[in-house]
Amino acid sequence: MKNTDINSLIFGSFIEHIENCVENGIFWKNNKLCDENGIRKDVLELSKELSPTIMRFPGGTVMGIYHWLDYVGPIDERKHVKNIVWGGRMTYEFGTCEYIEFCREIGAEPMICINMPTGTPEEAAQWVEFCNGTEDTHYANLRRQYGYEEPFNVKYWCIGNESFAVPDLGVQHDVNTYIREAWEYTKYMKMTDPTIELVFVGHDEEWNKAVLNELSPVCDYLSIHHYGMGDDPFSQNAEFEQKLIKIEKLLDEVNGREISFDRWYRIPHRSHDIKISLDEWNIWNTEGDKESQYGLQQRYTWRDALWVASFINLMIRHSKYIGIANLAQLVNVIAPIITEEDCSWKQTIFYPFSLFRKYCKKEYINIDNYGKDVVLTKTGEDYTLFGVNITNVEKTIELPFEAVDIINVCGEKLYATNSKTRDIVNITKINVNKQIQVTIPAYSFCIVSNQPL
Ligand code: AHR
Repeated sequence: MKNTDINSLIFGSFIEHIENCVENGIFWKNNKLCDENGIRKDVLELSKELSPTIMRFPGGTVMGIYHWLDYVGPIDERKHVKNIVWGGRMTYEFGTCEYIEFCREIGAEPMICINMPTGTPEEAAQWVEFCNGTEDTHYANLRRQYGYEEPFNVKYWCIGNESFAVPDLGVQHDVNTYIREAWEYTKYMKMTDPTIELVFVGHDEEWNKAVLNELSPVCDYLSIHHYGMGDDPFSQNAEFEQKLIKIEKLLDEVNGREISFDRWYRIPHRSHDIKISLDEWNIWNTEGDKESQYGLQQRYTWRDALWVASFINLMIRHSKYIGIANLAQLVNVIAPIITEEDCSWKQTIFYPFSLFRKYCKKEYINIDNYGKDVVLTKTGEDYTLFGVNITNVEKTIELPFEAVDIINVCGEKLYATNSKTRDIVNITKINVNKQIQVTIPAYSFCIVSNQPL
């Protein structure tokens, strides 16, 4: 099988106005660790270290009440709005411009999700103009007036979020309504900026078929979400992979068709094959904490970190089809970074994400006999292999290159968690002499390279 390119956008993350992700997370009013805009400097530093390549915003489910114009311009003139979806308030101090600055500071590509439930196509198009407009037009001028002469160049736009979910706001729960309305958003938004790329909501087989059949000329990405849950999230990976394979077959079929598109739409059709945007994924034990109604304040164990490592391996193995992926979420809420009033710290899942992100090469090399938990990547003649061992016995594998450096990462105990004062993750780097085997200890993962790590 041919090597496949790995899109670096699979190492993305997500911030939403939800519990303490933005409020008392990224933004913390009058906190001594904040900069002059209320952004926590320690969160910025940890986010830079995590280094997500793309950042989805402002939701998630909350996008159903998000009217972007309420959160731009002078802070003291912004609307104070109750967050009726997740509780608390909408952090009006962190709107589009602050989000873009956050992305720029940590080096992430922006990815905005528009409000379908209570918004309009026109409002979404105005948001596109505010972000990307270069002409002498009202919303582009508004951005300039607020101090941003240059466009934000937001390329990725999500048309709704989990629209099929009946308990969520909106009337797009049946696929035909979704498709009809999504077309309307597409027209307005792409006429405003024809270069943007669109992510449409995916769901089950029937929904995906309908969306791809009807929207394929303008669909750049099909959004899929996956949360590992319960006592054995590993066992759900096989089921999820089956779902992925079905979507991939569908994509092959749709991508194989010639795009026929009526020029009177006045917008360009898509310029590349449709890919998957796995724009929310993580472990989320919805019953897992007593303090929050939805179990969003997770404290991750070493077992969870191993799951994240093996899930990233799964994504790399499917990199031919996955174009974007976002670890949900970045701070406090099912997140790798936790903030306290006087410090912030790393959850166990921070480590697999940041290390795989740092060392993943540009191509995936499919070597069947390794099994699912070992993945080989390369750029030119530089190789990196990621091996995850989720069993209680060590595992030795033959390497297809001569190793120079090995990083082994393990937790003190399988169900241990990090805290403000204690980090249970041990990272050991070993320099070896052209080694052609590696032994992965029980319950650990390793990164092996023929180059210094
Ligand atoms: O990430 C938390 C929530 O999970 C998001 O708001 C929603 O899209 C998903 O169901």
